[in-house]
Amino acid sequence: MTTLTFVIEPGGALRGRIRVPGDKSISHRAIMFGALAEGITTVTGFLEGEDCLATLRAFRAMGVRIDGPERGRVTVHSVGLRGLHAPSGPLDMGNSGTSMRLMSGILAGQAFDTMLTGDASLTRRPMRRVTEPLARMGARIETTEAGAAPLRIHGGQRLKGIDYALPVASAQVKSCLLLAGLYAEGMTRITEPAPTRDHSERMLAGFGYALRREGERTVALAGGGRLTGTEIDVPADISSAAFFLVGASLAPGSDLLLEHVGVNPTRAGVIDILRLMGANIEVLNPRLAGGEPVADLRVRHAPLRGIRIPAERVPLAIDEFPALFIAAAGAEGVTVLTGAEELRVKESDRIQVMADGLNALGIAAEPTADGIVIQGGVLSGGTVDSHGDHRIAMSFAMAALRAGGPISVHDCANVNTSFPGFVNLARTAGLAIQERGTV
Ligand code: S3P
Repeated sequence: MTTLTFVIEPGGALRGRIRVPGDKSISHRAIMFGALAEGITTVTGFLEGEDCLATLRAFRAMGVRIDGPERGRVTVHSVGLRGLHAPSGPLDMGNSGTSMRLMSGILAGQAFDTMLTGDASLTRRPMRRVTEPLARMGARIETTEAGAAPLRIHGGQRLKGIDYALPVASAQVKSCLLLAGLYAEGMTRITEPAPTRDHSERMLAGFGYALRREGERTVALAGGGRLTGTEIDVPADISSAAFFLVGASLAPGSDLLLEHVGVNPTRAGVIDILRLMGANIEVLNPRLAGGEPVADLRVRHAPLRGIRIPAERVPLAIDEFPALFIAAAGAEGVTVLTGAEELRVKESDRIQVMADGLNALGIAAEPTADGIVIQGGVLSGGTVDSHGDHRIAMSFAMAALRAGGPISVHDCANVNTSFPGFVNLARTAGLAIQERGTV
């Protein structure tokens, strides 16, 4: 049982210079591609959060030697595409959709059977989006009747490449199929309805695997090649930086520098959306680190205004909407989001849970089928329930910077899935946050 509550006193400002933990998406992929490569892969800046640790433990359970993590450093003693061994029991993916969906692509190509399980949130999330295209490739995977985990993956199948147009813009599905494609005969070609994060494509290139991009929306690879171990420097996670971008924008007197943040254009939608709202964010010292664009972000307080969020930017900021809804609550005027039905099937139904929390803080927020309408206003203090959703918990913590009284956020233990050390780092920057209860 977890009863962790954040209690945040109102007011204050965010100041100084901080580095948020490593990128979650890149950390998962570093372990996965590293394990399947030949030779050693060393990772620095690895995110030591529960989600990425679930991925790491799963590969250990399949016989891969992994040293660390120690202060973000991990060494993967790669076993090659055919070097994994059957685990002795089910692989527990915890709260992590990325682990489950990407691993299902790898495991579909193995000679042995596996079972993937997860927590109450993960076992409610849709898995047919991966099992259906994998079945077309020749995989045999059983889900529950609702199309959810546990997933029973039958090994020993011959996979063949497919041409597949993704019905939803999902980097997890794209990456799952690319990973299965490594084990497939012939070409696997994936077309997305809109660009999504391209970390898998960049990392495949970094591991020396030939990949063909056909325009902005299609990517293709031939099975049967090999990956060569490499070094990966994981940048700070822009999704974790987002809470601070919003908090500093909202709180008068804020001036914060976020160091070494990944600003890959397929991830940086939150910067563009906040700037459209009037935020003052400077992108300093842009550079490349391990094939990924990185920069320092300086954010200063600025008055925000409500906007209609352009639908084409939604996939580029998909994890940042809980934080962006807090920005909208503190902005002048109305913010309208459409085309974001995917938010309903994240770690929680992020449209409903955010609307309920905003309403509890005196903000008019009206959920719609595929988005939300938020009337900016004066945030009161109050109590909100994060429903165990890490990003919702951290977003409401930042709302206190502009609230009229203390905010309590319930069910916050899952903040450790993506942002270990959040409370201490936020306190260092100036948020008056306390933890109550136990994990
Ligand atoms: C991720 C892709 C996104 C995102 C998730 C991480 C990834 O999910 O929400 O947090 O690492 O590929 P979808 O592919 O479901 O949009």
